[in-house]
Amino acid sequence: MWYMGHWLVVVAAVVVATVAALPANIPENLQPLIGHQVWEVSSERGEAVLWNLVTEGHIDVLDHSGTTRKFRVAGKDADKVAGTLRTANLTHSVIIRDLALFLKEEEGPVERRADISRSCTTTSCPVPSKDAYMTFKEIEYYLKHIGNNNPRVELRSLGKSHEGRDIWLVHIKPVTSKRVGARIAFSHMRKRAIWIEGGIHARERISPAVTLLLIDHFLNDFPQDKPFDIYIVPMANPDGYVYTWTNDRLWRKNRRNNAGSCEGVDLNRNWDAHWGVGASTQTCSEVYRGPSPFSEPETKVLSEEMTRLNNQLNFDLVLSIHNYGQVLLYPYGWTTNPAPHTEDMKKKGNVFLKAAKAHAGTVYTMVNTAGGFYYAAGATDDWAKEKLGTRYVYTLELRDKGRYGFTLPANQILSTATEVWQGLDMMINAIAPEKTARPN
Ligand code: ARG
Ligand code: ZN
Repeated sequence: MWYMGHWLVVVAAVVVATVAALPANIPENLQPLIGHQVWEVSSERGEAVLWNLVTEGHIDVLDHSGTTRKFRVAGKDADKVAGTLRTANLTHSVIIRDLALFLKEEEGPVERRADISRSCTTTSCPVPSKDAYMTFKEIEYYLKHIGNNNPRVELRSLGKSHEGRDIWLVHIKPVTSKRVGARIAFSHMRKRAIWIEGGIHARERISPAVTLLLIDHFLNDFPQDKPFDIYIVPMANPDGYVYTWTNDRLWRKNRRNNAGSCEGVDLNRNWDAHWGVGASTQTCSEVYRGPSPFSEPETKVLSEEMTRLNNQLNFDLVLSIHNYGQVLLYPYGWTTNPAPHTEDMKKKGNVFLKAAKAHAGTVYTMVNTAGGFYYAAGATDDWAKEKLGTRYVYTLELRDKGRYGFTLPANQILSTATEVWQGLDMMINAIAPEKTARPN
């Protein structure tokens, strides 16, 4: 009798210990982050050491501006990383002890949807969500809704991702008015266009959220006398995006199967422009460049469509939207040598910063990518500048500056989008009179 009691106690203790070791109620997409920590090193001296650790796939650097660098370390890599830092005489502090627990607290209450079918069904989804991150299905319902109901919208799939999801392109035609007459009169001039890409990095949810609201803005309240055809890809990496909902909230890359090794290619290192600079050859790295330039279906279809369109009209502006850091970046990322029209890009960039700040006081700064951020090639921006010759090319890092980072609360979607469209409206207004209806 005593023995049995004894064993029950032992069994009970084991059960309690097991439950404690596997924290209860960790959502599926945070479970890979159990035991991951966020560390911080001060000083610029850290840069080179961190870079080696990133390319080898041991850490995930989370921010790139300011005097410190925060990075994520998986439990299995902690000893190795700590050793490397020690050898380099760098001291680190632990900012977050367990990312899964941390994100569960931070993100749980704010990101949970009140009702997932609230604004979106297969038959009706008239507006993008302003206060919740939309699932990929909801995004598709919205895109199909405007594609079917708005005569100014042409919705096309450019092709499929690795896992067979569509890469959607929204073409917003200018309002037919005097412009048509003007175009006929000047039919030797090419049409002018703007290209906006969102969602190339999976975890940066605010990027597609803002990009979708830009579509709504351009359709409904942008002063409609602009001479631009606007092309918007709100979700360049649908597989990665879905994966952040189902498996790993902090997934960045696409979902290429790398023959049994770590999955994914960093799509913003896979473009055919100085491919390889500032990127990794290691599949487990967050900045893995892929087996060859444009090896990925996502970058391949985007670049082919951009090339095709740019041959028949003229892109005045190419904008790639990311987070976080509140930085407007102008090319190049592969060299600090100035790109053509750097002064123009800076001038119009300042127009953006000023108008964006006017909405809610959010301060965006502007820097050259390679000079002020970090060297990295194979991105949308460098490719557009170099291969298309687009005059105004930027990568925009949205909110915030690190408080929430990739898990920016959904209650900031609307005001982030508002400052961006106010900035963009003013920038586009400033570009419009230039009549650059020819390649640079
Ligand atoms: N955060 C972006 C990335 O890492 C910035 C890209 C800026 N452009 C560049 N050519 N590096 O992809
Ligand atoms: Zn990004």
